[in-house]
Amino acid sequence: MKLLVIGGGGREHALAWKLQSSPRVREVLVAPGNAGTAAEPGVRNVAVAVDDLDALLALAQSEAIDLTVVGPEVPLVLGIVDRFEAAGLRIFGPRRAAAQLEGSKAYAKAFLARHQIPTAGYAVFTELAPALAHVRQLGAPIVIKADGLKAGKGVVVAMQLAEAEAALLELLGSTPTGAGAPVVIERFLEGEEASYIVLCDGQHALPMASSQDHKRRDAGDLGPNTGGMGAYSPAPVVSAEIDQRVMATVILPTLAGMAADGAPFRGFLYAGLMIRGDGDLQVLEFNVRLGDPEAQPILLRLRSDLLELIEAALAGQLDRVNAHWDPRPAVAVVIAAAGYPGAVHGGEVVCGLDAAALPDSKIFHGATRSEHNQVLTSGGRVLTVCALGADIGAARNRAYQALAPIHFAGGFYRSDIAHLALRR
Ligand code: AMP
Ligand code: GLY
Repeated sequence: MKLLVIGGGGREHALAWKLQSSPRVREVLVAPGNAGTAAEPGVRNVAVAVDDLDALLALAQSEAIDLTVVGPEVPLVLGIVDRFEAAGLRIFGPRRAAAQLEGSKAYAKAFLARHQIPTAGYAVFTELAPALAHVRQLGAPIVIKADGLKAGKGVVVAMQLAEAEAALLELLGSTPTGAGAPVVIERFLEGEEASYIVLCDGQHALPMASSQDHKRRDAGDLGPNTGGMGAYSPAPVVSAEIDQRVMATVILPTLAGMAADGAPFRGFLYAGLMIRGDGDLQVLEFNVRLGDPEAQPILLRLRSDLLELIEAALAGQLDRVNAHWDPRPAVAVVIAAAGYPGAVHGGEVVCGLDAAALPDSKIFHGATRSEHNQVLTSGGRVLTVCALGADIGAARNRAYQALAPIHFAGGFYRSDIAHLALRR
C-alpha cells in the first residue's frame, strides 16, 4: 500500500516511521514532512502545506494513495476528511463536525455539559464588561481560554485576579461590543494532568498507552505554556482503576454523545484530564488527534501494526482488535529553538545527530529541513529524543544520554522530564 501522512512535526515523523514498518506498506508520503522523514527509508516528502486542502486532495489522487492519515488539527478542523471522503478517498480522522471538539472550546464545554461528562464549571463571554464582572466575582485562581485553535498557547491560568483581568483585556478589550470571539472562563482545577488517547471508529474505542506531557517551558513546570516540552508513557497517575473510570465516565459517554449529536467520532481522540489525589477526574480539553510530543513515546512503545488498527477503525471493528505494547516505559525530551514558544529564527545548523543514535532510542524530527546535506532548524520544537528503558528512570537517562551530542545555536530543553513519574 501507498500511504500519505499529513503534517511535518515530531508526531508525523513518528507516524510515518511506524506506518512504514508495516509489512503491507510499500511507501509513505509525508506532506510536508521534515528532514527526519526525508531521511527515513521508504518515506518521501512532498512540499504541500497542511492547510492547502485542494493541493492535498490533488496529491492523493495523482499519487494513487490508498490511505491518508492526518496528523495535526488544522486540516481536520478545515474539513479535510469530508473533502477526501466526498472524492471517494480513504482517510483517517474525524470529519469537520466532530473536529469541533478541539476547534471550539465553547462547543467542547457545551458538549461536556450537555452529556454530563465531568469538566470544570464555566461561562462564555463575548464582551469585556460582563467577563470582568464574572472573574471579579469568582476571584483567582481562574482560567481564561480563547476560543479557536491556538496551538496550546491560548490558555491563561491566572493565579492572581490582575492576570485574569489583563488576559480578558487583551482578548476582548479592542473589539467593538458584541463582536469579540468567544472567551471561556472556567474554574481552576487542581491535580495531576494526564493525556488519555483512544483510537475511535465512531462507536468503539481502543485505548492507546497512557501518557503525560510537560506543557510549561521551564524546569519545575514554570514559564509559559507550550505545545509540550517532553512526554512519557505510561503515566503512573493513570492506575488500572483510573483507566476504567476514564473509559466509563469520559470516553464512552463522549463517543455516545457525538453519535447522538449526529457527529460520530472516528479518529484519534485525546482527552486532557486533571486527576486529583482522591481519584476525582475532570476533562480539561479534547484534541481530535494524537498529541505532540505524546505520540512519539506512545508509538515507540506500540508493538502492533498501526495500519491494522487504523483499518479496523475505518471498518467500525475496533471491538475485534487489541493493541500490544512494549512493557518498558518511554521518555521523550523536546529540544526547542531559542524564543519558543514565541517567534523563532530558523536556519541554525543541527550537529551531532549521527553520534546520537543509541539502541532503544529514536530521534524524531519536528521543525527541521535539509539543505546541502545539512539539517537546519525551521521552527520552535526542533527534535524529540525518545528512549525506552527498564523503568522510567532508565528511559529518562537513556533519552538524556542520546541527546547529549546534539547541538544547535540557541537550542534548549527541560532537564526534568518525567520528574512527576519518578517521584511516585
Ligand atoms: P488546554 O488547552 O485547555 O488543555 O489548557 C492548557 C493547559 O492549561 C492545560 O494543560 C493545563 O495545564 C492548564 N489548564 C487548563 N484548564 C485548566 C483548569 N480549569 N484548571 C487548571 N489548569 C488548567
Ligand atoms: N502535547 C499536547 C498537544 O498535542 O496538544
